[in-house]
Amino acid sequence: DWTMANFIDMEVEKIREQVGDRNVLCALSGGVDSSVVAALIHKAIGDQLTCIFVDHGLLRKNEADTVMETFRDQFHMNIIKVDAQYRFLNKLKGVSDPEQKRKIIGNEFIYVFDDEAAKLENMDFLAQGTLYTDIVESGTETAQTIKSHHNVGGLPEEMEFQLIEPLNTLFKDEVRALGTELGVPDEIVWRQPFPGPGLGIRVLGEITPEKVEIVRESDAILREEIKKAGLDRDIWQYFTVLPDIRSVGVMGDARTYDYAIGIRAVTSIDGMTSDWARIPWDVLEKISVRLVNEVDHINRVLYDVTSKPPATIEWE
Ligand code: XMP
Repeated sequence: DWTMANFIDMEVEKIREQVGDRNVLCALSGGVDSSVVAALIHKAIGDQLTCIFVDHGLLRKNEADTVMETFRDQFHMNIIKVDAQYRFLNKLKGVSDPEQKRKIIGNEFIYVFDDEAAKLENMDFLAQGTLYTDIVESGTETAQTIKSHHNVGGLPEEMEFQLIEPLNTLFKDEVRALGTELGVPDEIVWRQPFPGPGLGIRVLGEITPEKVEIVRESDAILREEIKKAGLDRDIWQYFTVLPDIRSVGVMGDARTYDYAIGIRAVTSIDGMTSDWARIPWDVLEKISVRLVNEVDHINRVLYDVTSKPPATIEWE
């Protein structure tokens, strides 16, 4: 009968047979799917797996460290971290159109990965965390083309890898159970959805290091308070966005002219539609006070009370 332990044994056997003594490359993002696929393949073939983790500088606070601590220090995987912050920031300089930003981040991601992969020898396979739902949905992808999802189908053409997709019969909840069985920490297994372009589409308009920092710090505070309030598993996604708005405020005796930050928190089943989360007012108050006190250049806090449709979950 079907148990997760049996599934792992069978898949490990299959992967060993398919790969033999050859090597597998994996693009690790720190998301649930790529993390679980890496853990599974690592269990099967150990050092024959190499992961590339691109830090585009648009990750959340501590995210890169968590990924490295988990997979390099605990799992002892071969993992190459690419610090590509400046490369991405340079390419994004002066760009404020949302679609343009997504395209640049998506393309740059592939170039960086490509450059790194080219330094490695004898890579025969590319592991991907494709789920059953990814395959089913890609046939009817009209809704998704509203925004270009860069991490769907972004295989550089000149690379000749065979694909390994051991999760492609699974649903999200099964992938989570599999990850837990493989020892992937809850922090990753239960991570809320996070878009490929990262904080880059939560800084509205042109991206600057200062603005990324404001979003990163405020997002960390929001996540901490949502978790403290015990709401982290009920709310589908919760994050902050930085619209390009400054307004007048007063701090101490001084007039300020600084940024407003937006809080977006939604409930959803699959991300296709969503409702805004009814976060209790006292929790919102705590968040608001902390954001203004602890994050430089914020003097006002807004709460997004729009459902999807007509709004999208992200603001760009
Ligand atoms: P929207 O903003 O379209 O988002 O309502 C729906 C869900 O998709 C996520 N999202 C992305 N995920 N790459 C991703 O992997 C992307 O480019 C991207 N854009 C949006 C969003 O966070 C939400 O969960």
